[in-house]
Amino acid sequence: MIVILTALKGGVGKTTSAIHIAAYLQQKAPTLLIDADKNRSALVWSRDEKLPFRVISEAAAPKFIQRYQHLVVDTKARPEREDLEDLVTGSDLLILPTTPNPLDIDATLKAVELLGELKAKFKILLTRVDSRTNSGREARKSLTDLNLPLFKTDIPKLIAFERAPQRGVIVKDYPNPRAQLAWDAYKAIGREILP
Ligand SMILES: Nc1ncnc2c1ncn2[C@@H]1O[C@H](COP(=O)(O)OP(=O)(O)O)[C@@H](O)[C@H]1O
Ligand SMILES: [Mg+2]
Repeated sequence: MIVILTALKGGVGKTTSAIHIAAYLQQKAPTLLIDADKNRSALVWSRDEKLPFRVISEAAAPKFIQRYQHLVVDTKARPEREDLEDLVTGSDLLILPTTPNPLDIDATLKAVELLGELKAKFKILLTRVDSRTNSGREARKSLTDLNLPLFKTDIPKLIAFERAPQRGVIVKDYPNPRAQLAWDAYKAIGREILP
């Protein structure tokens, strides 16, 4: 299966989601994460080879992809309309991560509008949801009221997600009491993608 993460804005948890969805899919079958973002954040995260799957740049991908059953693609921020068209053609599922922040939701609605025109199969993922506020619930309600496809689970805002990249690990392997909670959230997303 080919899962592509995209967003019109940066900082919405695209790379964090790509890494953890790839970690889930790797438990099912060999999975490759393709880092197609110029920032190369996923590649930097993988530099110590402590991730349970391989990360490769877009340029290096053709040599490797046939060995893998699942591909996860972390794309550049601010794709143009034509880029979105290509992503739709090239994926089985397009995931749009967004925080509950109104500006991020607004950018997501713009992406949805473009994707609607392309009749794309996509799903919105709420990330960095702060359990101490109502913002996650409000964002979920407004997206649901618009009948938009949304993952049932939210990704909570947790320190483990911020710290794991420095250690080059996924949250499951980060030594923090709430790391399991963090991993459980992406496991639930993974099950929605591939039970
Ligand atoms: N669930 C989360 N909880 C806390 N911090 C998060 C979470 N998801 C992402 N972050 C942090 O937010 C910032 C942006 O996330 P990132 O995955 O790099 O987004 P993008 O790839 O969309 O730019 C990073 O500093 C990351 O560590
Ligand atoms: Mg990124």
